[in-house]
Amino acid sequence: VGTASPYDLVRDDMRKVERRMRALPFPAVESLPATLKDLLGSGGKRIRPTLTLLFGRMFAVPQERLFSLAAAVEVVHTATLVHDDLIDNAQYRRGKPTVNARWQPGTTVLLGDLLFAWAAQLAAATGSAPVMQRFAAALTTVVSGEIVQTVGRSGRPGMKEYLHRIRGKTAALFTAACESPGLLAGLPAEARLAASYGENLGIAFQMTDDILDFTGKDKETGKPTGSDLRQGLITLPAICYRREHPRDADLNALMGGRVGKADVGRLLQAVRESSAIARAQSIAGEYAGKAAAVLARLPAGPHRDALNDLTRIAVDRNR
Ligand code: IPE
Ligand code: IPE
Ligand code: MG
Ligand code: MG
Repeated sequence: VGTASPYDLVRDDMRKVERRMRALPFPAVESLPATLKDLLGSGGKRIRPTLTLLFGRMFAVPQERLFSLAAAVEVVHTATLVHDDLIDNAQYRRGKPTVNARWQPGTTVLLGDLLFAWAAQLAAATGSAPVMQRFAAALTTVVSGEIVQTVGRSGRPGMKEYLHRIRGKTAALFTAACESPGLLAGLPAEARLAASYGENLGIAFQMTDDILDFTGKDKETGKPTGSDLRQGLITLPAICYRREHPRDADLNALMGGRVGKADVGRLLQAVRESSAIARAQSIAGEYAGKAAAVLARLPAGPHRDALNDLTRIAVDRNR
């Protein structure tokens, strides 16, 4: 008997979702299909479609529609990563070279577009207008969040701006992933609770990703750590650090948009060794706690137990 994981309950479902994701009509161009297959099959934690499947099973959603929905959620996520890595010029993810490391920027943009289009097709396969509506709205929010982050990079974000940004770029998709199964099941009250759970979990999850960018190991996260600060992107640990060290010259240079004037290596180390990390972890824990409190109002059973475990793992992980 292996260690029980919240993923176990929907492992068979996930295999079918994976198959559906890869059923995309590949463009007949040399070696692009291989890149796309790599991309869609390259693992990742699959937390978003797992949430969709667990809520879908909790609400007894018919499985064909549920699998399309879960596939749509993960394909959207994959598309945003393809574009995010191009924008950030990231060279690897999930321990493998990114699409932009292998292809021209133009090709990378188009491959991301292809995935967005495929996700729309999968969402449409649920046959539910409310789900498609929620999906499109979430996508608009995610992309707007990414634009704000790109354009506002050298601003001076406080807690309020930071929260607004991560609600957009991450929590919106978590919300849609959790809310949609209830919509498919025709259970609007439960869907609203699941949406609120997803929103809080998404915030906690992105905060943890931002902490791991300081404390993580590349080998475990599969992506280059320290890159947020190197790009002048101010996230939760830096915001917490600034409260304790308002006069840190390197951080102030970064926040003033003078990235070249800051010793980022020194600053990274200083934040890692400060109490800002524990503070940030405690804030992420608060959002996970809010998520858990909402979850407690949904039907008890194995699916809720698995969601509870997943909530804990979302803020206590090394990848
Ligand atoms: C990465 O998402 C981007 C964020 C919103 C933090 P994940 O951490 O879910 O990435 P994969 O899918 O597991 O690679
Ligand atoms: C994820 O944010 C981007 C989207 C949610 C679209 P990050 O920039 O923090 O993700 P990683 O760290 O590159 O995975
Ligand atoms: Mg990134
Ligand atoms: Mg990150």
